[in-house]
This record gives sequence, structure tokens and C-alpha cells, in this order.
Amino acid sequence: MIARRTFLRVSAGTFTAGVLAPLTGCGGVPMLVRHAPAGRFSITLTEYRATAGDESAIAVDVGSGWPVLVGEREDGSFFALSSKCTHQACRVRPTGGALVCPCHGSAFDREGSVLRGPAQRSLAAYTATVRDAAVHVELGQ
Ligand code: FES
Repeated sequence: MIARRTFLRVSAGTFTAGVLAPLTGCGGVPMLVRHAPAGRFSITLTEYRATAGDESAIAVDVGSGWPVLVGEREDGSFFALSSKCTHQACRVRPTGGALVCPCHGSAFDREGSVLRGPAQRSLAAYTATVRDAAVHVELGQ
């Protein structure tokens, strides 16, 4: 049985503060907080795996109101997608191997493509590159 995460890990830059607080973010998805003033952020692979645990993705709060969903593919590459559903802007979250919207049931794959409507457009995707034992995400802002 997978233990449900009951804490929020707060970190900044490459420093993990290790602050524990009640889970409040993104439908129970493990969450990190990152400042991304230049439109980019990084997460060490160790930090990602410690945060994700058995979950297929984590949410990264970059202060935009729409956490970025970051997850590892089976080949070791990473994806980074907006959590903003393209139907009516609810927050999608990882559910099994897909990203599912709780409002009307749209589902997206790990590339952000629509698996099931009513959404008709893909999730916004960002560049995620693994380098120097960290995943680097470019938000393009
Ligand atoms: S808002 Fe996501 S399916 Fe409607």
C-alpha cells in the first residue's frame, strides 16, 4: 500500500529547507516551491526522487498560480507540463500513468497530449533537460 504524503517540502534554489507543514497543494501531489524569476528552475534528481516517492510526478509551485508538473519517464528523461487544464482551467494532477483533470475528467499523457476530453488542446509543455544530476526546466517566460 502506498502511504499518502502528508507534508509539504519547501525548498529554494538548490537548498532544501526541509520545512514540514500540512499538505495544501495541488490535490495531494507532492510539491516543491521554486523561485523562477528568470523563467527557469532546477531540481536535483535526489531531491526529485525524495519528493516524488512512489508518485509519477511532482508539482512545482513557481508562484504563477499554476504549478508545473514534473515527472520522470521510463527512459530517465523528464517532462514538465502546466497543470492548467485546457478545457476550463482546473488543475490536472497525476493519476496512475496519466494526468487527469478532476473537474470534467479530461486526461492527458506525459507529453501533455489529450487522451480523453472534453479538453481538446494539449497541456502547455516546457523544456526539461537532465544535466549534472538535476532536471532543469525552462518556462520560456
Ligand atoms: S476543466 Fe479540465 S476537464 Fe473541464
